[in-house]
Amino acid sequence: MIPRSIRNKTLQSHSLASLTTFRIGGPAKFYMEPESIRDVALATGFARKQGIPLYVLGGGSNLLIDDAGVDGLVLNLKRMKAVRRFGLNVVVQAGANLGMLINDCNRNGLAGPHGLAGIPGSVGGALAMNAGGSYAEIFDFLESVIWINSDGELQSRYKEEIDFGYRLSELRNGVVLEATLKTESGKVSELIAETRRIQAEKISVQPYRKFSAGCAFKNPKDKSAGLCIDQAGLKGLSVGGAKVSMKHGNFIVNEGGARARDVRELMEIVTDKVKQVHGVSLQPEVQFWPRVAA
Ligand code: FAD
Ligand code: EPU
Repeated sequence: MIPRSIRNKTLQSHSLASLTTFRIGGPAKFYMEPESIRDVALATGFARKQGIPLYVLGGGSNLLIDDAGVDGLVLNLKRMKAVRRFGLNVVVQAGANLGMLINDCNRNGLAGPHGLAGIPGSVGGALAMNAGGSYAEIFDFLESVIWINSDGELQSRYKEEIDFGYRLSELRNGVVLEATLKTESGKVSELIAETRRIQAEKISVQPYRKFSAGCAFKNPKDKSAGLCIDQAGLKGLSVGGAKVSMKHGNFIVNEGGARARDVRELMEIVTDKVKQVHGVSLQPEVQFWPRVAA
């Protein structure tokens, strides 16, 4: 069933939990680490032809994978991680680690990406989520991407042609392969110092070293989900091995042996209680695999 061209690169029933920062989730029916755009095109073509759901894995830092795993093909882009610099333009493959990209830019006096310091995961994942925080979001300095869209077509798209918003981007519906980022000129020592400062700030308020997927919920308009959860008295609440962090109310942490269904149940309890107390409907930021209809 798997075409010969990618058969020797495709694993079956491959465990995914260790590829996520939550350390939760069952196996992928099919799993592949493409090394080239050609590999990705062959794999997406195979999935389309067979009607197999396709999933793209970056750093697994915003994912809750079901305990039963996914009945589909997971593409882990970690081998596609080249970074090339052309003056202030940086062309980066989607599988590159975001922290590595920031360090590379800093060393070369390229400002912009440093505003994303401390955000785990890959460049592709950051683009799919429009990752960001108090200092920047990745779309601030995105110029264009090359991706395979949801119809299986290889395309180039300028930022202006992409739908995106707060923790939202239509790129999640396809496979981002490469991005061109437009940076500004900066002083190396200042960029490195600023990166360290932002990282330290995150570590001081977030349970950074624990197994989690970052903030479980998006912030409601003009509010902080973490503050709402804290004020509702939900810190420390747990279901199985999943617990609302004592350090930051919007982080659910895996204290050991948590299952996806523990996390989901805890998220439902938190959502209900915050609705009761604040009249606000929290929306998940974390992405569920298998995908659930919006
Ligand atoms: P994954 O978790 O692997 O995937 C997330 C989604 O992106 C999935 O839908 C996946 O299919 C899709 N995707 C991944 N790669 C591609 C691709 N190449 N093409 C198309 N779709 C793709 N987020 C913030 O925004 N700000 C923060 O400050 C922040 N802090 C965090 C702190 C901690 C400790 C942790 C654990 C997480 C934090 N996060 C934060 C969440 C997470 O790091 C970001 O959302 C990150 O950008 C996800 O990237 P990833 O590569 O890990 O994506
Ligand atoms: N707060 C509390 N108690 C808590 C949590 C927060 O009182 O348990 C208060 C804080 O003291 C602060 C306010 O709420 O006054 C906002 O908290 P914080 O500064 O931690 O920011 P946040 O809105 O909770 C957002 C992003 C984070 C990002 C930080 C810093 C979302 C959902 N979260 O958090 O992103 O790291 O800003 O830039 O937008 C993520 O998306 O996964 C994520 C971690």
